[in-house]
Amino acid sequence: MDGNGRWAQSQGLSRAQGHQAGAEATIKIVEEATRLGIEYTTLYAFSSENWSRPRTEVNGLMGLLSSTLKKYLHNLTDNGVRLHVIGRFSELPQKTQKAFQDAMDRTAHNTGRHLVLALNYGSRLEVLDAAQRYAQEVAAGTASSKDLSWDVFSQYLYTTSMPDPDLIIRTSGEVRLSNFLMLQAAYAELYFTDTPWPAFSPEEFRKAIAHFQNKQRRFGKTGEQIQQEALVESLKA
Ligand code: IPE
Ligand code: MG
Repeated sequence: MDGNGRWAQSQGLSRAQGHQAGAEATIKIVEEATRLGIEYTTLYAFSSENWSRPRTEVNGLMGLLSSTLKKYLHNLTDNGVRLHVIGRFSELPQKTQKAFQDAMDRTAHNTGRHLVLALNYGSRLEVLDAAQRYAQEVAAGTASSKDLSWDVFSQYLYTTSMPDPDLIIRTSGEVRLSNFLMLQAAYAELYFTDTPWPAFSPEEFRKAIAHFQNKQRRFGKTGEQIQQEALVESLKA
């Protein structure tokens, strides 16, 4: 979700107002994702690098995260959405941790839909945390390095038990992943748009999804193999 600051500047508003408008856009997109039946929606709300912003902006963002969550929580419970947080949770301010922990507990029984917030998230941190936990388990004898596979190692990532993303959307003209789900994105379709996040509409969201639906995903196979598999599947059906 990029471009809150640039959008605000283009409107003669403050960065804080840009983040506020970004939060409102987020709610609309999450509602649209629920309507469309998307099982997992992940939002890159605060990266492990965002701490280097001015302290007032960081505090403002933390406040906005909690207040938006408070306003919106009933919507998650009403729609059966389970909230998750990925990232180094324990380094977030106590108040932020408490607000999100409460919301995760209150939605923990929901199974069909998932809203994942990346907070204090970075892929490199995630890999370091996973490797550290794995090494501890090997040292303790509860894991064995002999059978290390991606299926095993990926269970140590923050995204344990979540499917890999199918589609990653980045707004505001930047064409990079910026340390977001780098390993999980191995086969994801990437969609880049110049629209800044506060102006990213449910309509443009549907356009991005339509673009994804028109792609043939091959996972390293040839086009012929994929066609063959589709034929076999259609004969089975
Ligand atoms: C995204 O907008 C919001 C967060 C990172 C939380 P930016 O704040 O990065 O907006 P620009 O890049 O300055 O336009
Ligand atoms: Mg930015």
